[in-house]
Amino acid sequence: STEIKKKLPLKGEKILVTAGPTYEAIDPVRFIGNHSSGKMGFAIADRFAELGANVTLISGPSAQKSKFKIERIDVTSAAEMLEACQLHFADAKACVMSAAVADYTPEIVADKKIKKQEDRFNIDLKKTVDILKTLGSVKHDGQILVGFALETHNEEQNAIGKLQSKNLDLIILNSLNDAGAGFQTDTNKITMIDRELMSTVFELKNKDEVAIDICKKVIELMNA
Ligand code: CTP
Ligand code: CA
Repeated sequence: STEIKKKLPLKGEKILVTAGPTYEAIDPVRFIGNHSSGKMGFAIADRFAELGANVTLISGPSAQKSKFKIERIDVTSAAEMLEACQLHFADAKACVMSAAVADYTPEIVADKKIKKQEDRFNIDLKKTVDILKTLGSVKHDGQILVGFALETHNEEQNAIGKLQSKNLDLIILNSLNDAGAGFQTDTNKITMIDRELMSTVFELKNKDEVAIDICKKVIELMNA
């Protein structure tokens, strides 16, 4: 049993991970999306599974495949991701929200293909629900909630703002100013900031190695 603990320290623990973009429908043939590949989230899910966790991965549209046995739930929109997250957060020991969730969604989804007419065309958008903030508001003692922050300026300050306003235990800051970091790359450069505002800057690494760093920190927080 101590042997199992060493090799599979997360055996029996449920971990929730989200990955990929969301697609917000405009009409039956068009959507608003983003360039998230899902690589970071899938790498995190695989790393937790390798450590013995029961991983539930809620993914937006992504070409990624998991190398480990996980429960994968495919969703399309921010609203669908919210619903799936609310179903699976309650009994999860930790949740890492790495999905690039749309901030706005079309107010009206046309049921027929929109035909071109005038030279200018506007789509009214409304805010989506902040999934992370919603989970942060129902989080109970012992649950670890981790978010990402994608920033181009005032990076640390903005990340700390998100950590605190969403009631997170850890925020992973991605600066788009770092070459090799962010969307559609195999590498990432992160800074981790915890509730004590302890900030740790990591080197540019392969996303699989970044996932190891994130999992290590989450386990440390779970055991604290
Ligand atoms: N997030 C979420 N639900 C949303 C929007 C974002 O759960 N509707 C989560 C993301 O998955 C990420 C974190 O919030 O873990 C931060 O996302 P980010 O886009 O950096 O921050 P926002 O709070 O959306 O603020 P802004 O885009 O204005 O910087
Ligand atoms: Ca956002």
